This record gives sequence, C-alpha cells and structure tokens, in this order.
Amino acid sequence: MKNVFIMDHPLIKHKIGLIRRKEIGTKEFRETIGEIAMLECYEATRNLELEDVEIETPICKTTVQEIKGKKLAVVPILRAGLGMVDGMLTMIPAAKVGHIGLYRDPETLAPVEYYCKLPADCAEREIFVVDPMLATGGSALEAVEMLKKHGCRKLHFLCIIAAPEGIKAFTEAHPDVDLYIGAVDDHLNDHGYIVPGLGDAGDRIFGTK
Ligand code: PRP
Ligand code: URA
Repeated sequence: MKNVFIMDHPLIKHKIGLIRRKEIGTKEFRETIGEIAMLECYEATRNLELEDVEIETPICKTTVQEIKGKKLAVVPILRAGLGMVDGMLTMIPAAKVGHIGLYRDPETLAPVEYYCKLPADCAEREIFVVDPMLATGGSALEAVEMLKKHGCRKLHFLCIIAAPEGIKAFTEAHPDVDLYIGAVDDHLNDHGYIVPGLGDAGDRIFGTK
C-alpha cells in the first residue's frame, strides 16, 4: 500500500516496547507517548514542500530552504490523541490545533461524536490527525470524514499501534490519506481491543483506571 508507512526506527520500536508493559505508570506512559509522537512527526513531515528564501548570515547573503506556506494543523482525537499533541508541536511549533471528540460505544464499538472545534482556515491547512490506537478504525474513519466535510484535503493520520482490521478499513475508506503507524499488531479481541496492544490508551495516559 503506497501511502501506508510503518515506522522502522529503532527508537520508536524501543519506546513502543516500553509503553506496552503493564507495570509502566501514568507519568512514564504519557512521556513516552509524547516522545513517540515526536519521532513519528519527524517521519510524517518528510515530504513537506520547501521553498528557497534569501537571508543574510553574519558573513554574507545566501539562500536557505524553509517549509513552504507553513500552514499546518494537528488534530487529536479526544481523549487519547491529546497525549500526542505536545510531541507533534515540539517538531512543528507553529501548527494550529483542532480537536475532535469521539468515543467508542462499548457495545457496538461505533464512534460517537461529542466535540469538534477546528481552526477557521482548516481547509487551507495540511492536517495531521493523531490518535495512538487504530483498532476497528471506526474513530479514525469518522474523524477524517468530519475533516473532509470541513473542506480539508491534505490529510495525514498518525497512530502508534494499529490492528490489521483498522488498517484495512482505513485504507479502503480513505485511500487518499497517508497513514503512519508505529507498530502493526496481531488482531482485535472480542471487546475490540488490540492484541497484544497496550490496553486502553486514554485510561493509561490520564490514569483514569
Ligand atoms: C480509543 C482510541 C481511539 C479508538 C480506537 O478511544 O484512542 O480513538 O479507541 O478504536 P477504533 O479504531 O475501534 O475506533 P476511546 O473510544 O477509548 O475513547 P477515549 O480516548 O476517550 O478513552
Ligand atoms: N482503544 C484503545 O485505547 N485500545 C485498544 O486496544 C483499542 C481501542
């Protein structure tokens, strides 16, 4: 699949190994999610367009390259996506931030929308949607659908752990959206949790269970 990028950097693999461990506490889990987001952001921004700009060093005039347009936005899916925002902004500090609130109905696993606040000019921005978990894919599909309804066209989706079921659903529904994945896991269990996974990402980031 030409627009699915599975991370192979040793630092990402190592850090994902840390957050899978059940004994890792909230502080270390949250910090490590942020570090992985930063590393994934580095990979996901690899193809940003550059433009030549004339500047002056203390020695002479020269031409340097800058990111063209600089119109970027990060959109976390609440709650767990919030854990990836600071890491993304460490790499792209000028990006605006939108929020999409979705939770999975525990019975049907269908995404339920409860919040949406996006930058007013989001349709002109290159958008990086973030959520650590791509399980059935329901939440990711819905979030990207909402962004497309707001006119967004240049979209990327970054997750940390994905199930094959979610990857299939996402690439079928949104073949035009680049998908960046930290690790591909084995399968979903009967409750829609990723196996081996890391449990409930939101609960582990915010310490709610
Ligand atoms: C988790 C996760 C994703 C979603 C993935 O959120 O952060 O948004 O599940 O599952 P899916 O691919 O099957 O849709 P959850 O619904 O648990 O909400 P929370 O982040 O508020 O805990
Ligand atoms: N959401 C999570 O937080 N974890 C999973 O394994 C699946 C969905």
